[in-house]
Amino acid sequence: MNPAAHPTGNALHLKSLLGTESLKTEQIQILISTALAFKDRWDQQEPIPPTLAGKSVVMLFFEASTRTRSSFELAVQRLGGNPLVLTKSGSSTEKGETLLDTAKNIEAMDPDLLVLRHPSAGTPFLLDKTLSLPIVNAGDGFHEHPTQALLDLMTIFERRKRIQGIRVLIVGDIAHSRVARSDIYALQAMGAEVSVCGPPTLLPPKVEKMGVTLFHHLEQAVENQDVVMMLRIQHERFSSGQSPSKGEYARFYGMNQRILEMCSSDVLIMHPGPVNRGVELSTEVADSSRSVILNQVANGVFLRIAVMHLLLGGEPFSWKESVR
Ligand code: CP
Repeated sequence: MNPAAHPTGNALHLKSLLGTESLKTEQIQILISTALAFKDRWDQQEPIPPTLAGKSVVMLFFEASTRTRSSFELAVQRLGGNPLVLTKSGSSTEKGETLLDTAKNIEAMDPDLLVLRHPSAGTPFLLDKTLSLPIVNAGDGFHEHPTQALLDLMTIFERRKRIQGIRVLIVGDIAHSRVARSDIYALQAMGAEVSVCGPPTLLPPKVEKMGVTLFHHLEQAVENQDVVMMLRIQHERFSSGQSPSKGEYARFYGMNQRILEMCSSDVLIMHPGPVNRGVELSTEVADSSRSVILNQVANGVFLRIAVMHLLLGGEPFSWKESVR
C-alpha cells in the first residue's frame, strides 16, 4: 500500500478506528506487526519514534475504565504527546451539554486525536460523521472495543505464532459484550475458528449467524480449544433485576481448576478485565501459568501506541515473523 496515495495519508487507509467489523486482514496484520515491533523496541530500550511530539490527544472517558484509559495515556506519553483526560464527572455534560456539543467544542481547540469511551453504542460512529478529527473507539456500550480485540489477537499471536486456524472459545455474557463482538470480527478476519458458550439469556439472538459455533455446556465447549476467553457479566447493561445470580453463573459457566483440567494442557486463558474472581474465573485459574491476562494488559500499551502512530501517519513496522 502507498500511504501517500490515500486521502488519510496513513498506512491503514483509515481516518478513525471505530470497530473491527470493517477491518481487513491486511490492516489487522499491519497493526499487530507494528505493535510487536514497538514492544520489542521498548524491551530492548531502543527509542520509540516521537510520532505525537507537539501533538495533543483528548481522551473522553464517559464510562469507568482502568486498563484502557491508563494504557492510552501511557501510549500517548511514550509517543511524546500530551494526553488530556476528561471524564463525565466534572465535565459540562453534568450541566446538560450534549456529547456532540462537547465534541465540537473540543475539536475547536484543535487537538490531533480523540479517544472516546461511552456507554451508548454507536457514539464514536456518530461523532466521526460530524468531526474531521480522527477518533479511536475505546468502547461504545455493548457494540465494539476494537483496541481490546487487537491486543487480544496480538497476545494470541505472540504465544501461538499464528492466528489462522486457532480455535478460540468465548464464554459468558456475549449479548452485552463489546469485547466479544470485536474479537469475533477480528479473529474471523484472520481465519480463526470461534465458538461461544453461555446461558441462552446471555447470548445475542441468532448468534450462529455471526459464523460461530454455539455451546451451552462449558465442559463440552472447552474440549480441544487453543484459547478460552472468559467474560465478565456486564451487570451495568441489564435493566434492574434481570442479571443472573453470581453463584448460579459460577456453577455452570465459571472457569475453575476442574474445568481447566478438561482443557488442552497448553490452553491460553484470557480475560479482558476487570475480573470478578470467584464468578467467571476462580483465583486459582486467574493466577495460574495458563493465564495470560496480564500479558494482554501489557500488550495493550503497545497496541495503542501502534494505533495512534499509524492513524497519525507514522510508518508501519514489519515483524520478524509474518502475522497471519
Ligand atoms: N478491558 C477493558 O476495557 O478494561 P477497562 O474497562 O478497565 O478499560
